[in-house]
Amino acid sequence: MTPAHGSGVSVEGGVDLDTPIARAARAAMTVREPESGDWPRPSRCRVMSVANQKGGVGKTTTTVNIAASLAMHGNRVVVVDLDPQGNASTALGADRTEGVRSIYHCLVEGEDLIKVAHPVADIPNLWCVPATIDLAGAEIELVSLVARESRLKRALGAYDTSEIDYILIDCPPSLGLLTVNAMVAAEEVLIPIQCEYYALEGLGQLLRNVELVRTHLNPGLAISTILLTMYDGRTRLASQVADEVREHFGELVLDTVVPRSVRVSEAPSYGQSVMTYDPGSTGAVAYMEAAREMAVAGAAQ
Ligand SMILES: Nc1ncnc2c1ncn2[C@@H]1O[C@H](COP(=O)(O)OP(=O)(O)OP(=O)(O)O)[C@@H](O)[C@H]1O
Ligand SMILES: [Mg+2]
Repeated sequence: MTPAHGSGVSVEGGVDLDTPIARAARAAMTVREPESGDWPRPSRCRVMSVANQKGGVGKTTTTVNIAASLAMHGNRVVVVDLDPQGNASTALGADRTEGVRSIYHCLVEGEDLIKVAHPVADIPNLWCVPATIDLAGAEIELVSLVARESRLKRALGAYDTSEIDYILIDCPPSLGLLTVNAMVAAEEVLIPIQCEYYALEGLGQLLRNVELVRTHLNPGLAISTILLTMYDGRTRLASQVADEVREHFGELVLDTVVPRSVRVSEAPSYGQSVMTYDPGSTGAVAYMEAAREMAVAGAAQ
């Protein structure tokens, strides 16, 4: 497995510093100095759908902040906003006024993805394919189009991904055609789960849908990553939910848990990820650590 930072096992003064504490210290340093260490890059582009049909569980926040973290550590990342609400586009400062060429045009008119991917300000290596309000009609327009489930896959296929490490697709809170397009285009599903009472409700439906897509449309699809979000350490309920999710999904659940943090919720209104808005906040540190786990897991694949 490729080490996350520097040379992995380092020996200074005869002391082996590749201990968990040394690794944690290095990770903390990296959070403070984003330029200080590049993370491993996957051998080929990882296309991940960030999905959960439940609304407000942290899909967009996760997409934006994981993408920003990976990009800040030397990975080249494209965020595809597949939600008509356009929250990921807003958080990345992308223009989403009506009429702007967007993911809608890729899906419905066969526009090249590369033509609508815009660099994100202040974060090199990060691009955003925005969603505009046009996308709200796409769910219906797609119904009558040829190969309606694989329009996004086609758009990604025409894109030279040899220079891209991650494509993260922010899905809307539904299991309709847009989310199906994301699951047909991706190899991996990342499910954010909010640590609250109803967290597991509806998850069965999501898992069944992933299974349906795998059986009929995309045999290569797998749930690869679960991230626990909006964790409130003061409540016993949050830790119970986290335990239950870990019991059910085991290794798929990242060790890092994202805490509730006001800075995370403030960042989008400044057109920023929390990674640039307040990199030292608990939310930013957690997302950075979660992204590092993903980068390390991806390099080991
Ligand atoms: N760790 C966090 N701490 C505090 N607030 C958070 C955190 N994560 C997300 N939020 C806030 O919770 C709300 C929902 O988050 P987000 O938009 O990421 O969810 P979503 O699953 O994408 O929602 P939708 O289903 O509507 O697309 C947002 O206002 C966001 O700023
Ligand atoms: Mg969202």
